[in-house]
Amino acid sequence: MDDTNRGQENAHPPAIVEVRNLTKRFGAKLVLDNVSVSIEKGKTTVIIGPSGCGKTVLIKHLIVLIRPSSGQVYFEGRRIDHLSERQLSRVRTHFGYLFQEGALFDSMTVAENILFPIRQNYRVKNWHQIEDVVKAKLAIVGLDGFQNYYPARLSGGQRKRVALARAIALNPEVILYDEPTTGLDPIRSDIINELILKLERELGVTTVVVTHDMKSAYKVADRIIMLHNGKMIADGDADHIRNHPHPVVQQFINGQVGEDDLAVLRMNGSAGSAQFLPRDFEE
Ligand SMILES: Nc1ncnc2c1ncn2[C@@H]1O[C@H](COP(=O)(O)OP(=O)(O)OP(=O)(O)O)[C@@H](O)[C@H]1O
Ligand SMILES: [Mg+2]
Repeated sequence: MDDTNRGQENAHPPAIVEVRNLTKRFGAKLVLDNVSVSIEKGKTTVIIGPSGCGKTVLIKHLIVLIRPSSGQVYFEGRRIDHLSERQLSRVRTHFGYLFQEGALFDSMTVAENILFPIRQNYRVKNWHQIEDVVKAKLAIVGLDGFQNYYPARLSGGQRKRVALARAIALNPEVILYDEPTTGLDPIRSDIINELILKLERELGVTTVVVTHDMKSAYKVADRIIMLHNGKMIADGDADHIRNHPHPVVQQFINGQVGEDDLAVLRMNGSAGSAQFLPRDFEE
């Protein structure tokens, strides 16, 4: 029933990024427990799992924004988890990263936001050429013309798309998306899904998506991995996940509350006792 290490046993396609026996502790808290995943080149791998199960921690390890407690991280077959920050910043130019918070710099225009990673990594000489690059990146996400807008004037969906344009500024080979559709309505979410597929198709990028939006997962994934209690409990294509025998997988994909969660709710007191009003304290 447990699919742990299944990815390794079937590791015939080339892995562009790989974690081996990854364990991560924060103090006494064990977040990732001996996880091994190899991310196949040119494919879309989706990571699902309940809130707090370690999805963001795992994806941050792929670019060593977090260092493992034990285990290794590889990019194109080269070990990267023990590199210096300076060496890592070179490795990270191969990645685009869409943060969970989608954080744009509020004090910068859309164009300046997209230019930021370019400025950080290259000495820009030809500004005309750079304008064309910004235009092209914005056109990909359907926002050419918004160059001079500040983020405050954009909707949530538009902000995510600008963040995506920024994530692809350096022509990454791998794009990491952390909850790209969270907080968006179904239509805006689907625009993001379509963009993920478009970038994979047209730029041939390798994609890793963290989500708990199953509709999005089924639409974009070649492969879905589920994390639970620090371990990988499922790993396969959409049909494999839909028909997975593990009850926790079924509860998650069907949006049902599991026994563990119910136990927590029972422990935390009755709703009645929390429903006081100031008048309850009046004489
Ligand atoms: N820098 C940190 N220091 C201490 N604990 C951390 C740190 N980062 C994450 N954690 C803990 O690790 C666990 C996993 O966090 P993570 O952000 O990976 O969850 P997640 O699966 O991405 O959840 P969500 O779906 O809500 O985004 C949580 O219990 C979190 O509190
Ligand atoms: Mg997260």
